[in-house]
Amino acid sequence: MADKTIKLKIKRQPNPDVAAYWEDFEIPYRPNMNVISVLMELALNPTTQDGKASTPVTYDSNCLEEVCGSCAMLINGRARMACSALIDNLEQPVRLEPLSKFPVVRDLAVDRSVLFENLKKVKAWIPIDGTYDLGPGPRQSEEQQSQEYPYSRCISCTCCMEVCPQFNQDTGFVGAATIGQVRLFNTNPTGAMQAPERLRALMGDGGIHECGYAQNCVEICPKDIPLTNAIASVGHAVLKQAFKDFFTQ
Ligand code: SF4
Ligand code: SF4
Ligand code: FES
Repeated sequence: MADKTIKLKIKRQPNPDVAAYWEDFEIPYRPNMNVISVLMELALNPTTQDGKASTPVTYDSNCLEEVCGSCAMLINGRARMACSALIDNLEQPVRLEPLSKFPVVRDLAVDRSVLFENLKKVKAWIPIDGTYDLGPGPRQSEEQQSQEYPYSRCISCTCCMEVCPQFNQDTGFVGAATIGQVRLFNTNPTGAMQAPERLRALMGDGGIHECGYAQNCVEICPKDIPLTNAIASVGHAVLKQAFKDFFTQ
């Protein structure tokens, strides 16, 4: 073993039906490694610290530049992206666990489809039916574009949902990421056509009123999305829509 090493403590779970357990690993240090490059290195020779043969650790990753959102995990207890977590900045042993609010698929890989189901519920897209030329969309001022841009940076990593005290099975709360996307698509001049439908999807069980405004989401978001602004403005719009619906029924 080289003089300087990287010590890891990784939560393993071969499949959802068996109990999780911890394994310790130690690999030679190289400068500028991140958690994903360490996991890749480990996969070449998955041997535990006490010399037992193990298996490569399963995890999700793709872009390796904090864009795809797939590599979120708990690193030393904090939800964050593994590809941008530099070993030099982490306390050792580096503790790696899967996100705790999502079903484990294997080791550090979890099933985050709940976010994608929530995005479907609020129609987090701009419908453009047909393959014919729809012509140019409405023009947007630069000011409007710069107000919307931060919300378009969401990478669906689910860190905001992991740390949200209200995101749990009891509330069924959709979580901050989905609300951020409602803010984005409802203020887009074309997307605004479906604004009432998106707002109605946030009424009732699991809707925006479940938010306790604890602001954990905005603090953890790796893309600095102004989630509490989104929650405040969408919450206001949901209330207005509810009144409007009540008086026009
Ligand atoms: S403000 Fe608090 S309760 Fe609301 S979404 Fe963010 S973390 Fe959850
Ligand atoms: S809002 Fe931020 S923390 Fe939440 S999914 Fe999007 S990028 Fe991740
Ligand atoms: S691998 Fe894409 S965000 Fe980390």
